[in-house]
Amino acid sequence: MNWGMKNRLSRIIKPGTGRCVMLAVDHGYFQGPTTGLVNLGETVNPLLPYADALMITRGAIRNWIDPSVDIPVILRVSGGQSILKELSNEIITTNIEDAIRINASAITCSVYVGGEFEKETIDNLSKLVDKGEKYGIPVLAVTAVGKEMARDARYLGLASRICVEIGAHVVKTYYTENFEKVVEACGNVPVVIAGGKKLPETEALQMSYNAVSEGAAGVDMGRNIFQSDSPVGMIKAVRAIVHDGMSAKDAYEIYEQEKK
Ligand code: 5RP
Repeated sequence: MNWGMKNRLSRIIKPGTGRCVMLAVDHGYFQGPTTGLVNLGETVNPLLPYADALMITRGAIRNWIDPSVDIPVILRVSGGQSILKELSNEIITTNIEDAIRINASAITCSVYVGGEFEKETIDNLSKLVDKGEKYGIPVLAVTAVGKEMARDARYLGLASRICVEIGAHVVKTYYTENFEKVVEACGNVPVVIAGGKKLPETEALQMSYNAVSEGAAGVDMGRNIFQSDSPVGMIKAVRAIVHDGMSAKDAYEIYEQEKK
């Protein structure tokens, strides 16, 4: 890795703990006005002091986030599909010059292994890695899962390893049983988990705890934070698990306190 890439990555994955809490709010790029993100700024701005990085699209950041904010940006640069159609039909929507203008610390796209447009999404990743290597911008590959895919360690290990082999600098995947096998498949490339659909807070916290205990570098979580009845409570609790190694039970107390 060149100096710029290492520097950008260390703004996201904190060198002190080797861990990170990324806040994902890019859902609108294919889901439209997702619950909790209709007024994205109102939801997200209070959470920024507790996030290590913000995953967002260029349109959303320009509309709802103040440019003076001090947070590393993981810019979602892919899209082109919607929940109404085949999810894997994704293209690159944002060029590297615009990512640089936004001062992105990383760029991201999804890779649909097993999807109808699998090859095209792998091609998207490979082109982003080429650009990222050229300009010192790390690429986070999202192992996006099609409607029919099983989220087991075998599938997620396959999808994650393909992202690593194509050159991703960070892999985002889902938590599953035998998660160590997914982490092992990625070698030295850090792995973070998405939260997925909204779960009861206790379950989302336990999932975060299990993931970091089994080798994840942290979370890139969206709905389980911003759709919670206490988004600040949830992100503080997740942060305590990821950076301080707190148990899910103790972290739940942080959420409860904040909710009160
Ligand atoms: C969509 C994404 C989202 O950022 C991702 O799903 C994370 O959010 P959540 O925790 O709500 O699943 O990458 O492809």
